[in-house]
Amino acid sequence: MSKYILALESSCDETACAIIKDNTEILSNVVSSQINVHKLYGGVVPEVASRIHIENISLVIEEALKEANIDIKDIDAIGITQGPGLIGSLHVGVQAAKTIAWLYNKPIIPIHHIAGHIYANSFVDTLEFPLLALVVSGGHTELVMMEEDYEFEVIGTTQDDAIGEAYDKVARLLGLGYPGGPAIDNLAKSGKANYKLPIPKVDKPYDFSFSGLKSAVMQLINRLKKNNEEIIDADIAYIFQETALSLLVNNTKKALNDFKPKHLVLAGGVAANSRLRELMQELIKDYPDIKLTIPPLWCCTDNAAMIGAATSIAYDKKMFKDLDFSARPSMDIEMR
Ligand code: KG4
Ligand code: ZN
Repeated sequence: MSKYILALESSCDETACAIIKDNTEILSNVVSSQINVHKLYGGVVPEVASRIHIENISLVIEEALKEANIDIKDIDAIGITQGPGLIGSLHVGVQAAKTIAWLYNKPIIPIHHIAGHIYANSFVDTLEFPLLALVVSGGHTELVMMEEDYEFEVIGTTQDDAIGEAYDKVARLLGLGYPGGPAIDNLAKSGKANYKLPIPKVDKPYDFSFSGLKSAVMQLINRLKKNNEEIIDADIAYIFQETALSLLVNNTKKALNDFKPKHLVLAGGVAANSRLRELMQELIKDYPDIKLTIPPLWCCTDNAAMIGAATSIAYDKKMFKDLDFSARPSMDIEMR
């Protein structure tokens, strides 16, 4: 008998629903992005995001079922992002998922958003354990070790801003608009090493820090302005990106040496970055026994298929929950 999962994701500014058959077959993956609205404000406005989720969620669910050509009665379980994320946004998805589960008497499984990003890799590769995941998104910068399915240990995290947040803030300084990641990625391609930035220091071996780097970019721009020197945006994008990514690469290398995983995976929106993908391919050349998986672009940024992939594994582990759970904006991946 096949297994059909309906998954929902609404933790930030994407309203999404997917239908997944037998863990890795995507029957539909509908994502309604609010980027065009939040662009007008230069970033995600939480109150606006939750209102748009309310408007879109039913449509997105209907569309996903229609595209998959499946009746809701034939779904085996519902997966829903419980956290972390924006409380109002999460709440809309959780309420919708609980309503369907109650109405059609289906089991429900709350999912951690980052588990989704990590399991997105299972659409393109078999995950092998122990596994090291470099999770890089608008809200997260983490190195996560997994000895087996659903055993998450966060070995390193950011002490301040997430890397995606740093990309977005530096893009704003350069007047590049929101989201800033793809814009800096493109601009940096024509940049040169004309400027210098200090490499952020952290006191824990696998931790990250990006807020000082963002301030250093601001100071560099101010200094150039004050001295009436030319500000070459591409060169600023280049040096910011090289400095930020070197931190990711160095910590990942340290973790590969110390934890000796069998598999290294990238996860999250910043995994779409072309330079990071290049640097990881280079790094893995020194580790012929370790498999590297970089998710295809379509499953780097937020979507519901990845939540469906994580739900499929949780379903096999019978991680069902009663309907009395609620959204958890600061959910911890190490807790069940
Ligand atoms: O995973 P995601 O869609 O949402 C969160 O869970 O946060 O990640 C969004 C983040 C944004 O900060 C965006 O600027 C960044 O991913 N991003 C990129 C690229 N594409 C998206 N950052 C750097 N280079 C990219 N090509
Ligand atoms: Zn995400």
